[in-house]
Amino acid sequence: MSEYKTLPGSGIQIMPATWHDLRELYQLERICFQVDAWPMLDVLGVLTLPQVLRLKAADKNTLIGFIAADLRRMQQTAWIATLAVLPEYQKAGLGSTLLETCESQINLPRIRLSVRQSNHPAIQLYKKHAYQQVDTWSAYYKGGDDALVFEKTLHST
Ligand SMILES: CC(C)(COP(=O)(O)OP(=O)(O)OC[C@H]1O[C@@H](n2cnc3c(N)ncnc32)[C@H](O)[C@@H]1OP(=O)(O)O)[C@@H](O)C(=O)NCCC(=O)NCCS
Repeated sequence: MSEYKTLPGSGIQIMPATWHDLRELYQLERICFQVDAWPMLDVLGVLTLPQVLRLKAADKNTLIGFIAADLRRMQQTAWIATLAVLPEYQKAGLGSTLLETCESQINLPRIRLSVRQSNHPAIQLYKKHAYQQVDTWSAYYKGGDDALVFEKTLHST
């Protein structure tokens, strides 16, 4: 199976990300997450550490979206570390496509993620994709917002 996926009629491709995407991913993070944006070291880590599944969406050669999953085999759980789409490309199905493509490449029984309680677009996205809230981490984020922990069962064990 090809590592590349082209969205019909758009020219947008989903493909593996590499350390070559460092500068653009750092910018994407700053635009999409603002106060929660990762420092450069974390961006470098997500692009280079082993056991991380990392996919980007590219419009021609421009990075417009990104998802990464930390594959924690000991816990039999993949954690979505980040998911972001540039504002001008949002609300067109790209976040869903990145999530679905990532899920399809995860060979673990469950997938988890945390999201700011005030991040309604992301919460709607995860609910639409059958994620269910399983935990709350109190005052986890800067400013005191709770983190809602969502889970989805991918494969029965
Ligand atoms: C969350 C995010 C990745 C969604 O990307 P996207 O490409 O707009 O998502 P999609 O177009 O695939 O939308 C899928 C579903 O998400 C929900 N959704 C997306 N944007 C929404 C919004 N602004 N308001 C309410 N629901 C929204 C809807 O349920 C939507 O389904 P619908 O189109 O049938 O209504 C994007 O808003 C983003 O990058 N936000 C900033 C970074 C972030 O918060 N990431 C998540 C961290 S946990």
